[in-house]
Amino acid sequence: MKNTRRFYIRDFEIELLIDSKVYKPSFTSMLIARNIPDLDGLDVLDIGTGSGILSIIASRLNARRIIATDISVRALNNAYENFKINNVWNVELRLGSVFEPVEDEEFDIIISNPPMTPSHQPLPRYTWGGLDGRWVLDEIIRGAPKHLKNGGRLIIPTISLVGIEKTYRLLRDIGFKIRVLDYGYHPFSRRLMNLKKYIDRLDCADYFYDNHGRPCWRVVLYEATMLKHH
Ligand SMILES: C[S@@+](CC[C@H](N)C(=O)[O-])C[C@H]1O[C@@H](n2cnc3c(N)ncnc32)[C@H](O)[C@@H]1O
Repeated sequence: MKNTRRFYIRDFEIELLIDSKVYKPSFTSMLIARNIPDLDGLDVLDIGTGSGILSIIASRLNARRIIATDISVRALNNAYENFKINNVWNVELRLGSVFEPVEDEEFDIIISNPPMTPSHQPLPRYTWGGLDGRWVLDEIIRGAPKHLKNGGRLIIPTISLVGIEKTYRLLRDIGFKIRVLDYGYHPFSRRLMNLKKYIDRLDCADYFYDNHGRPCWRVVLYEATMLKHH
C-alpha cells in the first residue's frame, strides 16, 4: 500500500510517497533535516537515503550535486519517485553499502541517518544496526575522512541506545573537530519495547523514563569537521 504525506520542514513543503517497506521519516530524520546547514554550491553525499527526505532538503538548501545511496532497491525506487514529485533533479541514486558506491569520490558534506537499532537479528526496512547498533554508524565515521574534502563536514546523529559518548570519542580519536548541532529525546517505539530486555544487557545503552513512565532514548546530532592540511 502506498500513500502520500506532506511534511513541513523549515520553509519547505515536501510531499512524500510513503512505501510501507521503506523507512518513514522519523524524529531523528526531522532533527537532521532542521539542522542541515546552507549548502550553496556544495557536493553532498547522503548515505542510506530511504525515502530521500534528507536529499530533498539538501537540494532545497542549494547543494550543487547530491549522491544518495541505499542498500535497499525498494528505498532507491521510493526516493526516485519522491525526487520527481518534489521536482528535485540534482540527485544521483546509487545502490550499495556505506561508501561502496562512491569509491574515491570526495564531498563537502556527508549526511547520514544510519540504522541504529541494536538487536540479535536483522530487522525490517534495514533498520538493524548490528548487535550493538553501531555497525553502519562506525563504518561511516571511520570511512568519512577519505571521502571528505579538506574542511568537509560529516553530519551524523547517535542515539543513546548505542552510546553517544562512544561516537564522540571515535570522532575525536580520528581527528575530527566536533560540534553538537542539536539534541532531543523520544519514547521507545513498540519495536524497541520488544527489544528492551536485549537493550538492557548492552554496556553502552542508556535511556530514561519521562514523567508518563515511558522509556525514552536520547539523540545527539554531531557535526564533525575534517581538516586535512594544516
Ligand atoms: C534510519 S533509515 C534513514 C532514512 C532517511 N535518510 C531518513 O533520515 O529518513 C536508514 C537507511 O539506511 C539504509 N541502510 C541500511 N544499511 C545500510 C548500509 N549498510 N549502507 C547504506 N544504506 C544502508 C536503509 O535501507 C534505510 O533506508
